[in-house]
Amino acid sequence: MVSENMEKAINEQLNAEMYSGYLYLSMAAYFEDQDYPGFAQWMRVQAQEELDHAMKFYDYLNTRGARVTLTAIEAPQTEWDSIEAVFKHVLEHEQMVTSLINNLVDIAIEEKDHATNQFLQWYVEEQVEEEESAMEVLGKIKRAGGAANAEQQTFYTC
Ligand code: FEO
Repeated sequence: MVSENMEKAINEQLNAEMYSGYLYLSMAAYFEDQDYPGFAQWMRVQAQEELDHAMKFYDYLNTRGARVTLTAIEAPQTEWDSIEAVFKHVLEHEQMVTSLINNLVDIAIEEKDHATNQFLQWYVEEQVEEEESAMEVLGKIKRAGGAANAEQQTFYTC
């Protein structure tokens, strides 16, 4: 069992993860349009990961006998001023998601819901990686100079 309060909070997070997937798919579409297939592919992989994050919450609610309630997903931004602006947005978005996950952990601790707290620790670790990978790409873009050069150095030299 999870509390009604926790059920509601996890459903909201499920929506936030779906939105993240939608946002990254929108960024992928932007890069496709700008002819940056490497960046587009990076975003497609991120979008799929976000759907996986959402489905982990979906499965957890079902495992605990709680109700999954899907709600409208907000329309994502579709245009950005530059490649750097896109990845700055990714980093800011992931930092925001980290704060949402931390809030969920706070609720689990307040409610002494140890099972949910333990389940959420996977997301706590995942957010460290999510922020790190956004910072890594952003750093490469800043160092690389031009956009094509940035894509080359970021995705084709590993
Ligand atoms: Fe599901 Fe990128 O956080």
